[in-house]
Amino acid sequence: MTDKQARPLIVVEDLAKTFVLHNADQAIIPVFERLRMAVLPGECLVLAGESGAGKSSLMRSIYGNYLPTGGSVKVLHDGDYVDITTASPNQVLEVRRRTLGYVSQFLRVIPRIPTLQLVMEPLLENGVGKDEARARAETLLTKLRLPIRHWDLPPSTFSGGEQQRVNIARSFIREYPVMLLDEPTASLDGENRAVVVELIREALGRGAAMIGIFHDQDVRDAVATRLFPVADFKAAA
Ligand SMILES: Nc1ncnc2c1ncn2[C@@H]1O[C@H](COP(=O)(O)OP(=O)(O)O)[C@@H](O)[C@H]1O
Ligand SMILES: [Mg+2]
Repeated sequence: MTDKQARPLIVVEDLAKTFVLHNADQAIIPVFERLRMAVLPGECLVLAGESGAGKSSLMRSIYGNYLPTGGSVKVLHDGDYVDITTASPNQVLEVRRRTLGYVSQFLRVIPRIPTLQLVMEPLLENGVGKDEARARAETLLTKLRLPIRHWDLPPSTFSGGEQQRVNIARSFIREYPVMLLDEPTASLDGENRAVVVELIREALGRGAAMIGIFHDQDVRDAVATRLFPVADFKAAA
């Protein structure tokens, strides 16, 4: 559901990223340059390109984990564009709290916090009441088919696939307007991948803008509204 009238939720302009390896004689690794993209509400732009093309570097630059060498990453937050590359750390945190979500491949396990609590937390942080937060967490965990007996346990002893589903629940519960998905289905089986595809489509249906990396061709075909070949912006070595 692409709304042609809408403003893009992400606008990337002239983005460049070069790594300098200080422990390898200042070796320079140019990744991309003059990279531009705009993502509208309801669009899921899938980053394409072989390993080493710069997909993860682009994603981390957009999230503000990597400082790009040049260019801007503007995210529509509360009606105004915030440039992630120049925003203060507090502004970046605020944008991440309410607008820009990141689903990584791994759960950063928080010790001793039971799963249900962990999934409710993002909503509680945003001021949602406890009962509603609990109900929504239970709905998501059920949808993601995480056995009820796991809900009161911390996820530290769960299998990789179970941890990933907790991670996905924790990310999707907030219904972010903009989401970055870094191989969220990497360690899931077919049925669970289908659930994640459904969650992504629901989010697109309510107007979220997404940028994703998916190795699984079926997932890619099911969610992509557009492919973005990162290698087209390869920087000269
Ligand atoms: N933190 C880093 N330090 C130095 N070089 C890096 C770093 N991250 C990525 N690179 C290099 O940048 C290039 C792109 O990597 P990456 O963004 O991980 O590609 P992809 O995700 O498409 O496989 C590679 O040549 C990689 O070695
Ligand atoms: Mg990568």
